[in-house]
Amino acid sequence: MHPVILAIESSCDETSASIIQHGKVLNNVIASQAVHQKYGGVVPELASRAHQQYIYQVVNEAMTSAGISTSLLNAIAFTKGPGLLGSLLVGVSFAKGMAVALDIPLIEVNHMEAHVLAHFIADPKPSFPFLCLTVSGGHTQIVLIDDYLEMKVIGETRDDAVGEAFDKAAKIMGLPYPGGPLVDQYAKKGNSEAFQFPDTNIPGYDFSFSGIKTAFLYFLRDNKKLDPGFVEKNQHDICASLQKHLVGMLMRKLNKASEETGIKQIAIAGGVAANSGLRISLQEYAKKNNWKIFIPDFEYCTDNAAMIAMAAHYKFIQNKFSDLHVAPQANLSI
Ligand code: KG4
Ligand code: ZN
Repeated sequence: MHPVILAIESSCDETSASIIQHGKVLNNVIASQAVHQKYGGVVPELASRAHQQYIYQVVNEAMTSAGISTSLLNAIAFTKGPGLLGSLLVGVSFAKGMAVALDIPLIEVNHMEAHVLAHFIADPKPSFPFLCLTVSGGHTQIVLIDDYLEMKVIGETRDDAVGEAFDKAAKIMGLPYPGGPLVDQYAKKGNSEAFQFPDTNIPGYDFSFSGIKTAFLYFLRDNKKLDPGFVEKNQHDICASLQKHLVGMLMRKLNKASEETGIKQIAIAGGVAANSGLRISLQEYAKKNNWKIFIPDFEYCTDNAAMIAMAAHYKFIQNKFSDLHVAPQANLSI
């Protein structure tokens, strides 16, 4: 059967809905929550309230723009976790309400699996096995994928996510939230060899980004003591050096994973996949090591319901449904 599924994503600060029909994503409606900007980070209480305000409208728009009436739906999918509990609850409850009202099955989706499966929304698609580096404000993982629903995390951060490291460093420099894209923009005009930061030595494929945050704080504090205008005068070089350092940490582990597994199909996902330094470095490694690389459109890299819909499609054809007792799980892992 080729199902028609409505998928809902509400794990963090994007309220999103998408319709998938015959395995083809028809749309991807996203309402971003601007309310967090002035706080310098996502405020969970405000996020769940904003989801509650937006969700009906977002779902309605997905249904009408796809030209799908509720009677055509075969299932309702939602993000079970990981994410902010209050935010997840809004999506889960809405999905349950619809599934009960329409008397159709419910499909729970793991948000991290969905980031990986975003690579199957559009061509070119990887074949199995492949490795995926999922990098965002909440996650940093290397995932080994053997099949659509068979994947395992082989490396992950032990503390902060890499997007968090970008954002926190930007905040220390006085840049607005989220600072990652700004660091990227300034880095393009700077010298990436200008400053050096200490390396962390974590075994295996795991990462740690909390040390660099502290080192960066002290680096700026010490230099500002000598020259109060240090940041303003060196902003481009500081951003370029920091970006090179963070990208280097990611790429060395990804390369190690590729060498040791022998897998040369390499995908990236998550908001930090937009980083130009990471994209350039990925292309350089690809050339040197004969990798085939996969980077989804930015729309499918950041949090979105289309990836939830894609994951739900594979779960539907494998008869993996959820019952009505299902509850969100903030720290759900793959
Ligand atoms: O996937 P995403 O939209 O949301 C989650 O965190 O789940 O990722 C957002 C993260 C933020 O930390 C943001 O600063 C970072 O992605 N980001 C970037 C860039 N674009 C977004 N970081 C570095 N360079 C970029 N160009
Ligand atoms: Zn995400």
